[in-house]
Amino acid sequence: MTSAGLPLADTAADASAGDSIAAARRQLARAFRQQDLETPELDARIIVGHVLGLDHTALSAQSSRVLTAEEAAIIAELSARRLAREPVARILGRKEFWGLPFKVNAETLLPRPETETVVEAALAALHCNNRKSRALRIVDLGTGSGALLLALLSELPGAYGIGTDVSFAALRCARDNAAALGLSARASFVACDYGTALRGPADILISNPPYVARGDIAGLQAEVRDFDPQRALDGGPDGLDGYRAIASDVRPLLAPDGILVLELGQGQFGAVTSIFAAAGLEPAAARHDLSGITRAVVMRGRMRGPHSRYEKKHLDCGPRPTRFRPRNRPEIVERR
Ligand SMILES: C[S@@+](CC[C@H](N)C(=O)[O-])C[C@H]1O[C@@H](n2cnc3c(N)ncnc32)[C@H](O)[C@@H]1O
Repeated sequence: MTSAGLPLADTAADASAGDSIAAARRQLARAFRQQDLETPELDARIIVGHVLGLDHTALSAQSSRVLTAEEAAIIAELSARRLAREPVARILGRKEFWGLPFKVNAETLLPRPETETVVEAALAALHCNNRKSRALRIVDLGTGSGALLLALLSELPGAYGIGTDVSFAALRCARDNAAALGLSARASFVACDYGTALRGPADILISNPPYVARGDIAGLQAEVRDFDPQRALDGGPDGLDGYRAIASDVRPLLAPDGILVLELGQGQFGAVTSIFAAAGLEPAAARHDLSGITRAVVMRGRMRGPHSRYEKKHLDCGPRPTRFRPRNRPEIVERR
């Protein structure tokens, strides 16, 4: 039986000793297609390649090579996991994000392509302010695998960052990812409720909090519902609990000229910007993902005084460059 309760024989996914690589791939792809998996051929190729340690080209070049009994058994085991809807990235234990390899575990969300819009939005806001090369301080609330923080650090060689999470296993994973990417010297990880253990100010506050309304979780794709950690998904009754918690701490954490960059669930722009309006922040820019959903918003302290008209005209670029005053700012430290 697979863990989804499917008899293995019915799935016809078993690769057998003596099968060629090509035959094993065909068999897996057929079984995946029968179970309506979205990308059956790709999944079959990745699983077979992973077990054999062969990339795409080598798999094709060696397509007539025959599987050993041990290889066939491992392929069958992994394909049963895929038939139980476990995502390929979880089976492999790694996922690419922002062109970087990230290790993942059972307590980390699989980093999503749409989350790259948060990185793009932050970099665009910094670019507009000519701040990319400065010694910026970044805080990532709910860091998971560390994807957002480490992607930004990889782009900002002068920056230093802290990622927080309530999951120790996620934080260990993020720390390992920082080490593997050569970013450990500029990344720290702290176990706490969003920003509650941190003292600001941060120049960039980023977060992709859990934002699925609790009642919607049951209707998610099995790959997400059954394999992403609940605490990475569950945003409370209306999906907005994480934003409210972050908003309650945001002002002391954020430098006066700092930016807050948030990922949004579909249709949440209005509700989220209202929550942060009460904390004195207003939207400066927004970014859509490839499906046209407003996926990232950049916010900053509300505009006041004589600069307002100029700044309103330049919303997409955030604050005007001359307003940024480099200065010695206190380190972000853990609050005891
Ligand atoms: C949607 S996931 C985002 C993970 C990662 N930043 C990413 O974009 O792939 C949300 C993360 O917030 C963490 N989280 C949930 N509640 C939290 C809280 N109260 N304080 C800090 N982190 C929290 C979860 O453990 C999870 O890692």
